[in-house]
Amino acid sequence: MIKNFWYAIEHSANVTRDPIRLTVLGQELVLYRDTKGNPVVMSDLCVHRGGALSEGFTEGDCIRCPYHGWKYKPDGECVEIPANPPGRGIPKKARVDAYPAVDRYHFIWAFLGDLPESERVPIPELPYFDDPDLKHIHGDYEWDVHYARALENGIDFAHGAWVHGGSFGNRDAPEIEDYEIEYHGDFSASATISFKPKKATGLWSRLYGSKSEPDPVRVTNRWWMPNVSLLIVELPFGYQRLYNAHVPVDENRTISKWHLMRDFFKGNWADRDARRRVIKIFDEDRPMVMAQRPELLPYDLAAELHVKSDAIQVAYRKLRNKYLDMGWGIDMHRIRAEYANYQSVVIPSPARRDNPELANAWVMKEVPMKGSELPADHKLRKPGDPKKSEQRR
Ligand code: FES
Ligand SMILES: [Fe+2]
Repeated sequence: MIKNFWYAIEHSANVTRDPIRLTVLGQELVLYRDTKGNPVVMSDLCVHRGGALSEGFTEGDCIRCPYHGWKYKPDGECVEIPANPPGRGIPKKARVDAYPAVDRYHFIWAFLGDLPESERVPIPELPYFDDPDLKHIHGDYEWDVHYARALENGIDFAHGAWVHGGSFGNRDAPEIEDYEIEYHGDFSASATISFKPKKATGLWSRLYGSKSEPDPVRVTNRWWMPNVSLLIVELPFGYQRLYNAHVPVDENRTISKWHLMRDFFKGNWADRDARRRVIKIFDEDRPMVMAQRPELLPYDLAAELHVKSDAIQVAYRKLRNKYLDMGWGIDMHRIRAEYANYQSVVIPSPARRDNPELANAWVMKEVPMKGSELPADHKLRKPGDPKKSEQRR
């Protein structure tokens, strides 16, 4: 679980004026649209008594907590405490964390972290979303797995022949040709191979015609930090692109918000078949990923044995480790062990750093950051730890 990234957290189509609650990175968030249709993402934790704003309602651009009616602006500041007599001021601490939010590529993106805008990793540029010739469908696949395990499964070339034997995988041709990794900027990489699929069944068999052996199919896997994957399958009769935003609910649960685009069979009549194929593939993957141990993606690269065909996943692990080394990993273990269910914590929002005047204006504690898995010289100093110079003395 890493802070300081833009996360695609919900399909745009699911976010309206009515607030909804999502759990992301183990934290409850509220989502709604303001009067102009812009997305609003805030901590779903009223600082008064921990009520859920998402159970309340919008009023203009604001949201009102249903419990005692406190009203919050989209930037998290409370502007009304109905129990106060007129003229009584609103405490500076009456504010919740609000996260920058953008509606792009059919997803709502939220920047979950406290970096100032100039230092943020940008929202990734995702190809194909602007192509008007593609037919889109989307959906959710929920599973009890860690999001990074889900992402790695999505970009794993070698499992296809074994796990997807029931759909496209061909156990008679399991070999993965050597491939090059192409890096796209600092946060994304892809690779392309061709493989021999099994003869198609169902609707697709019509498109393959009477050939006894299907032609090789080119497959591209791509990922973007921290949780987006793309699978492009170049079939003889058209291209299919499957995006996944693997939304980390918590360490044990992921909602893979998928978005499929195809340039063949573009009528609505073929949507059901396309949806069925996506779900079938997830269902084939599910028992594999759920059985993996450890459940979390190991930080130590030597903790699992990689071969050449795993290079695209290894590239992801290395980059992910880089951000963990920078101290962006949320210490979920500590949250569970120390805070359990009697201390709420939130992901710090940019306002905590941007606005020195608000330095002491936060009721909710920030999530603790991880230092324990990192190499000793990267270890983060916790408040109260002696400084390095003091240790030497
Ligand atoms: S808990 Fe939200 S107003 Fe009291
Ligand atoms: Fe798979």
